[in-house]
Amino acid sequence: MTMSNKPTQPEKPQDRQTHGRSILLGVTGGIAAYKAVDLAGKLTAAGATVKTVMTANACRFVTPLSFETVTSCPVFTSLWQGPKQDNVTHISFVDWADIVVVAPATANIIAKAANGICDDLLSTVLCACWSKPTLYAPAMNNNMWENPAVRANVEKIKKEMAAEIIGPATGRLACGTHAIGRMAEPQDILKAIEEIARRIRPNT
Ligand SMILES: Cc1cc2nc3c(=O)[nH]c(=O)nc-3n(C[C@H](O)[C@H](O)[C@H](O)COP(=O)(O)O)c2cc1C
Repeated sequence: MTMSNKPTQPEKPQDRQTHGRSILLGVTGGIAAYKAVDLAGKLTAAGATVKTVMTANACRFVTPLSFETVTSCPVFTSLWQGPKQDNVTHISFVDWADIVVVAPATANIIAKAANGICDDLLSTVLCACWSKPTLYAPAMNNNMWENPAVRANVEKIKKEMAAEIIGPATGRLACGTHAIGRMAEPQDILKAIEEIARRIRPNT
């Protein structure tokens, strides 16, 4: 086999499946929230418009300003900001979003999504957007991930709402244990989003 010496050209943003897509990024309260900033940056660099919805607990781990900075888009943290901010309500995301991504997804948000609980902005948005292509990247302690209630909730969102799940991976957890529970890496989540984008409407 002959090897080409031709340098590989970096992919242009307009060639990416995410180019021109509207991505709603939900961020919840786990230590992996800091990695969601990297994901938001990667999506933006790949040509997507990324609007971030953070839970109150996500804001304990990382600030809205980080997402606002890397996406150049407003970040939403409250059900009650309402149309005053960017004319956005929880229902407006249904028409706006091409793809919904929740990274990291806590056991709590998965439980709320599985059971139609709407007690904050993100859970309400997920309830409204349930029929949209949705990708969850769970991240939690292995004991939580193996809890039968969590397993049942994951199965429920997969079967009843066609949600897709990436990870969690096995590796070093924040508590120091080596076990399943780490959020999938941002570049792998990006690939999964590109695959969903290609499936729903290929960018030619
Ligand atoms: C330091 C710390 C780290 C946490 N990490 C996780 C986590 O990785 N996954 C998870 O499901 N919950 C984790 N929790 C618990 C959640 O923050 C808690 O269940 C919270 O209610 C989630 O709220 P939210 O889903 O609205 O963001 C953590 C809590 C603390 C204090």
